[in-house]
Amino acid sequence: MDSTFFMCKPDAVERGLIGEIIARLERRGLVLVRGELRIIDEATAKAHYAEHDGKSFFDDLVSFITRSPVFVAEVAGPKDTWSVVRTMMGATDPAKAAPGTIRGDLAIDIAENLVHGSDSAEAAARELALFFSEQ
Ligand code: RTP
Ligand code: MG
Repeated sequence: MDSTFFMCKPDAVERGLIGEIIARLERRGLVLVRGELRIIDEATAKAHYAEHDGKSFFDDLVSFITRSPVFVAEVAGPKDTWSVVRTMMGATDPAKAAPGTIRGDLAIDIAENLVHGSDSAEAAARELALFFSEQ
């Protein structure tokens, strides 16, 4: 099995959408290997989103992702799981995301786009280590 890192962001948890979102992944045939509710600290948030450091939305992004609990998860599938999950998430801007995707069905605002998924195999390995290394 091939694993990726996945997260239901604070807006998803606040809106009670963890079950809806994880159920979509499970119905597709992906497996929830582990997952837990956790408040992300500022240092971890900045490390996770380091590629966006210096961009106009960086401070808002860190504030958003640390404001209340997220559901962090390891999700597995037969192959290229990160890519399968990204396709199911839809475009970063929910207003442009296709119907049938998580963002396209359940969100409208780019700042509160419900989910995160690793964007490469390398990112999946890095993010799984960042969030689950202590376990
Ligand atoms: P994520 O990393 O959160 O899974 O989202 P993503 O790959 O689809 O998008 P990415 O380009 O990595 O951007 C990370 C998050 O930053 C916020 N963002 N805001 N205002 C803006 O123009 C803007 N661009 C990006 C989004 O919340 C996005 O999920
Ligand atoms: Mg990203």
